[in-house]
Amino acid sequence: MEKQLYIDPELIILGIESSCDDTSAAVLRGNHLLSNVIAGQKVHEQYGGVVPELASRAHLQNIVPVVSEAVRQAGVSVSELGAIAYTRGPGLIGSLLVGTMFAKGMSRSLDIPIVDVNHLQAHVMAHFIQLPGEQKPEPRFPFLCLLVSGGNSQIILVRGPLEMEIIGKTIDDAAGEAFDKCAKVMGLGYPGGPVVNRLADEGDPRAFVFAKPQISGYDYSFSGLKTSFLYLLRDELAKDATFIDRHKSDLCASLQHTVIEILMSKLERAAKDLGIRQVAVAGGVSANTGLRAAFMEYGERTGSDVFIPPFAYTTDNAAMVAMAGAYRFASGRRSAPSDVPYSRLEI
Ligand code: KG4
Repeated sequence: MEKQLYIDPELIILGIESSCDDTSAAVLRGNHLLSNVIAGQKVHEQYGGVVPELASRAHLQNIVPVVSEAVRQAGVSVSELGAIAYTRGPGLIGSLLVGTMFAKGMSRSLDIPIVDVNHLQAHVMAHFIQLPGEQKPEPRFPFLCLLVSGGNSQIILVRGPLEMEIIGKTIDDAAGEAFDKCAKVMGLGYPGGPVVNRLADEGDPRAFVFAKPQISGYDYSFSGLKTSFLYLLRDELAKDATFIDRHKSDLCASLQHTVIEILMSKLERAAKDLGIRQVAVAGGVSANTGLRAAFMEYGERTGSDVFIPPFAYTTDNAAMVAMAGAYRFASGRRSAPSDVPYSRLEI
């Protein structure tokens, strides 16, 4: 029933995303993206991670110019907006509050409805965004989505736009966290994932062997990998203080190779067990070129349809929030003025 949700092609919806350290606003007409503006926050780099209080302050500074710019780039006027979608959670509570309160205020002043969106569902729904004039293939329900970010590593069974079930998740670190923490001990800065990716391109993925988890079902674990990575560095640095410098690319390539093997093996098993031949990837780590190549290889080897998001939709963005919001709006869902954001929110 829900799978046939119909999105009004003329509905212009504004999306607002502020769950972590990116302030973003986007405008969609139907399922076609008219604009997607993202303001990152450089302030966290010096601290090696996102500082929640600084993030919410930066959102406060960014939100008005970002929304104005998204509306301007879309070539519409605010009076044409039919609804506003905002991220209600999960995320940093102070950051979420900025987007939530802004969405509520704007909806009151324009007298248009607001729809709350689950950030994780939004990552999945990024696969349904079309550019004007474009009709790229979309996943068919049911499909599996590997959601990999700094805070999540999940295998999601997507039965419909609003019907999603987590069938596997990390029991400790997320994949992005594993990249970031290993990068940190190598002195590569934050966020480490993109740097590891860049260096991995020049290294040998089989130079070092790291631990892989042996846990049942479709759940993930990255703490064993992280520990074996640390132990290798500790032992080798005791013998040679220049070990990291001399082997940086090989360390990154081997780390990336292991993370990808862990991610793909469980995903493949889930797809095989459930007989699903539509597989998507989403979240910040889906920008990883090794993981994207592994998806392509998986598709060719198994004859499955694979869906890899454009780079612009891998990190947090409001286009995906607007897309998920359009489906929720189509289902009749509306957010009440009394709704509050949640730092923890299941899919
Ligand atoms: O989804 P996201 O932007 O933010 C949340 O965690 O919500 O994901 C950020 C994560 C970070 O851990 C970052 O290191 C990782 O995605 N990441 C990457 C790459 N680009 C971003 N990891 C590996 N390779 C990349 N190219």
